Amino acid sequence: EDLTAFIQAMPKTELHVHIEGTLEPEMKFQLAKRNGVALPYNTVADMRASYNFHDLQSFLKIFYEGKSVLLKEQDFYDLTYAYLTKAAYQNVLYSEIFFDPQMHTDRGIPFETVIMGLTRAQADARRQLHIDSQLVMCFERELSADSAMRTLEMALPYRQHIVGVGLDSDEKNNPPDKFRTVFARARQAGFHLTMHCDLDQLETHEHIRQALEDLHTDRIDHGGNILERADLVAVARRRGVAFTVCPVACGWLRQNGENINIVRGMLDQGLKVTVSSDDPAYMKGNYVGQSLIVAQGDAALSRQDLLTITRNGIDAAWISAAQRKDYL
Ligand code: HPA
Ligand code: ZN
Repeated sequence: EDLTAFIQAMPKTELHVHIEGTLEPEMKFQLAKRNGVALPYNTVADMRASYNFHDLQSFLKIFYEGKSVLLKEQDFYDLTYAYLTKAAYQNVLYSEIFFDPQMHTDRGIPFETVIMGLTRAQADARRQLHIDSQLVMCFERELSADSAMRTLEMALPYRQHIVGVGLDSDEKNNPPDKFRTVFARARQAGFHLTMHCDLDQLETHEHIRQALEDLHTDRIDHGGNILERADLVAVARRRGVAFTVCPVACGWLRQNGENINIVRGMLDQGLKVTVSSDDPAYMKGNYVGQSLIVAQGDAALSRQDLLTITRNGIDAAWISAAQRKDYL
C-alpha cells in the first residue's frame, strides 16, 4: 500500500536533527559570499558531489567543513529559520533541535551569538509558521570532559532556552562514561539527557549499556545495535527509553549475513522508536517526511505502525503534560 500521502499529511515530531546538518549547499554559498569566506567548491553541484562518506568519521570530516560560513548571529538565525520552514511545510508540529556549541566557540564565536540566532529564529517560526521547537545542546565527545563541563557552565545563564543535553561526533574510544560527571551535573541542573550510540561503533553494546545503566539517559540517538542484546532491550523497554532512529543514515543492521530493519526490529521488541532526519542537508535533502517514507518502504510500516511512531514521538518529547495532551 502506498502510504506517501498519509505520511505527508500526518502531524509529526522530530527529535534528532543537527542544526548544522541542515545547512544546504545553496545557503552555504550565500553565507560564504555575505561573510567573505572562500569555499573549496565553485558550484552547488560540485559541493553536493563532495558529500561522499562511508562511515561516521568520513561523514564528520565533510560535516565540519561546513561550519566556516557560520559566523554571525544572523547566520545562525537564517540557518534555523530555513530548517523550521521546511519542517513546518512537512507538518512537523514540534522539533527538538541539536546544536553543537563547541563547533563554534572553539572558533572564537561567542556562545551568546549562537544561542541568540537560534532562539530568535525559533520565536519567529513559532509565531509565523506555527511550529514549536526546543534546543538540545550536544557535547563533542572527542573533546575532553573538561571542555564539555566548561560548555555546560557557559550554557547555564541560558538555561531557559535549552531543554536537554546530548553527546555526538566521533564515538571511537569516546564512551558515554567519559562524560559521567558532566551528565550528572547536567541532570542536577534540570536538563534532560540523550546521547548518540551510532550504528556499528567499536564497543557499541558497552556504550549502550553505559548510556542506559550508568548515565541513566532518557533517550538514545540511533542505538540500532541494541537489537543484538536482549538484556539491554529489556532494560530500555522497562525504563521507557526512547530511540531516535534515522532511517536514511542508519536504517539497517547486518546480522549473520541478514539485514534487519532497525525501525521494524524496535517496533517488534516494544521499544519506543521514533523517526528523524539527523543531517538532512548531507543526506540528499531527506528531511523527516522523506525519512518516514523511507522507513515505511523499508520496514513495510502499516498505518498503525506509523501512528505508533507518531505517538512515541509525542511521548518522548521533552514537553509539559499540558502540551503533550494538546498534541494527542
Ligand atoms: N552522529 C554523530 N555525530 C554527529 C551526527 C551523528 O549522527 N550528526 C552530526 N554530528
Ligand atoms: Zn545525529
